[in-house]
Amino acid sequence: MAEGQYPAVRLRRLRSQAFLRRQVAEHRLDPAGLILPVFVHGHSESEPIPAMPGVSRLSTEDLLRTGARCLELNIPSIAVFPAIDPALKTPDGREALNPDGLAQRSVRALKTEFGDRLGVIADVALDPYTSHGHDGVLDEAGRVRNDESVALLVDQAVSLAEAGVDVVAPSDMMDGRIGAIRSALESAGHSDAVILSYAAKYASSFYAPFRHALGSAGALRGDKRTYQMDPANAREAEREAALDLAEGADMIMVKPGMMYLDIVRRLAERFEAPVLAYQVSGEYAMLKNAINSGALGSEAVLETLRAFFRAGARAVLTYHALEAAEAIRKL
Ligand code: PBG
Repeated sequence: MAEGQYPAVRLRRLRSQAFLRRQVAEHRLDPAGLILPVFVHGHSESEPIPAMPGVSRLSTEDLLRTGARCLELNIPSIAVFPAIDPALKTPDGREALNPDGLAQRSVRALKTEFGDRLGVIADVALDPYTSHGHDGVLDEAGRVRNDESVALLVDQAVSLAEAGVDVVAPSDMMDGRIGAIRSALESAGHSDAVILSYAAKYASSFYAPFRHALGSAGALRGDKRTYQMDPANAREAEREAALDLAEGADMIMVKPGMMYLDIVRRLAERFEAPVLAYQVSGEYAMLKNAINSGALGSEAVLETLRAFFRAGARAVLTYHALEAAEAIRKL
């Protein structure tokens, strides 16, 4: 730049001091935008999950302790995933409907302890309960049958609502399940039950650590590509989301999240309903392993969360929720 000539605009000026950077930030991190997914099992001791460093399958006691920690950190809700005893898994996943099953017991324990101070979310899908690891029931050829699966999912959703769950989150990707679940919830008197639909759920390799956590990895025969979405598709996500909203979903979710921020952005721009994103187990494991090895600093976690909110996510399900909320407090 020649002497005596100055740039008309210096964008660095607003980056020059911390108070300015804070004041003009387009997005602020708030624990209210976080949801903690947790794994529970029916044992009296919690057990670390090797594929997800820092995450354990929780005993009921530790589940309640974790719920209390969420409240302290201002995290509004928790999503419970049951690791079912293999002896209870069957081809039709009937254990999902057991009013005293692990998921239902966990929901009840949380609601009894915390009432409406802590929101409780539970997945609607059969994969934790089926001996073959699929989200629905199979025909003779091993393909997932849509309508028969929906009938079971409807009963599972009602059973979770009876246990007191605030939000049911169908993660199965069967066609027509949101409408069927909504009308069954209404008929059963649960008109306040919120449906968070996994609207754009991709057939992703990034769920592998989750399947280890649930013990469904070894069981899974084949893959989930006949019902979960093809990672090649973006416009199809809009069709899925539009249908789920028309059928009565209150909120829609994109999953995985970090790799699919373009989808988060698309849905957030097109629909008024809240769009949530799930930073899934494989995304967590990648980041955590990189941090544990020293390759990345732990502040990388908050950067990923900012990216979700910048893309338009209203809330993020993340296994990093507790440590992130602690870090946000110190900002
Ligand atoms: C079950 C379900 C899965 C996840 C959430 N619900 C796995 C799958 O669809 O195979 C994945 C979450 C994660 O990887 O953290 N339908």
